[in-house]
Amino acid sequence: MTKKSIILDCDPGQDDAVAILLALASKDDIDVLGITTVAGNVPLNLTESNARRICELAGRSDIKVFAGASQPLMRKLVTAEWIHGKTGIDGADLPDPSMALQEAHAVSFIVETCLAAEDSSITICPIGPMTNVALAMMQSPQIIPKIREIVCMGGAVKELGNTTPAAEFNIYVDPQAAKVVLESGVPFTMMPLDVTHKALVTPARLQNFKDLNSPVGNACGGMLDFFNRFDMTRYGFDGGPLHDPCVIAYLIDPEIFSGRKVHLDIEVTSELTMGQTVADWWDVEEKTPNAYICDDLDSDRFFKLLTSRLALL
Ligand code: BDR
Ligand code: CA
Repeated sequence: MTKKSIILDCDPGQDDAVAILLALASKDDIDVLGITTVAGNVPLNLTESNARRICELAGRSDIKVFAGASQPLMRKLVTAEWIHGKTGIDGADLPDPSMALQEAHAVSFIVETCLAAEDSSITICPIGPMTNVALAMMQSPQIIPKIREIVCMGGAVKELGNTTPAAEFNIYVDPQAAKVVLESGVPFTMMPLDVTHKALVTPARLQNFKDLNSPVGNACGGMLDFFNRFDMTRYGFDGGPLHDPCVIAYLIDPEIFSGRKVHLDIEVTSELTMGQTVADWWDVEEKTPNAYICDDLDSDRFFKLLTSRLALL
């Protein structure tokens, strides 16, 4: 498999943090060109500093971290401290970062990096609201042919939403941005709740992180202990769903996942169903498919990959 050059667009977030660590631990498969941050799980000042904390935890203070949009395109920011805690990465217990935040805006970084690249060479991985990526596409549509694929975490297809009955958090926070990105024409792969709700951090899997007995293992153990609580209580699951690392695992080993190419649309008008990802799973409208949507995974293989990669850090 050829190595993928990625821009990781995130809002850490405990599960974003694990996704960053997985990407940084997978040097032979993934070249992280930069990490761009957006307001989402917590406000921007925390997502950008958390991204730097996580890079330092991985021993990668050389990674460029950029701050991007502090608000969605058109709507008021909704955050999720009730899941992630006040800091966004509660449970990690990490010091303030010493590495500098890049001066450039995340959107400028995305635009400049894509413009300088070959056609179809950059994979963009949004694992938070898609505000930065949409802004980059609107500001410089010339970047669109440079992007090989969007692989995002977001949405809910047959599963119901986690933020409203209809909508998943990342799409709910900035549905207009998600629609811009989806409709750009760039190949679009989505990891909705249908698949991430099967990637559960069960007590045994949590213990495997802790057993790594390293700063990374301890931080992941602490973060996921904290993160697990909310979903285990709400859904009665045997562990919390590890949403965002599914995106990175898909880049490394797509065979872990299965899904379907379908036509997808995003609700941006109705307040009742705002941010709903409407996928024509049974092709009732016979429209040309515009998204590959995963709905299942081999969860043991996923966690095996994850723990073995984190052991490298
Ligand atoms: C998504 O929202 C956030 O809470 C997580 O980081 C993930 O990206 C799940 O709905
Ligand atoms: Ca996220």
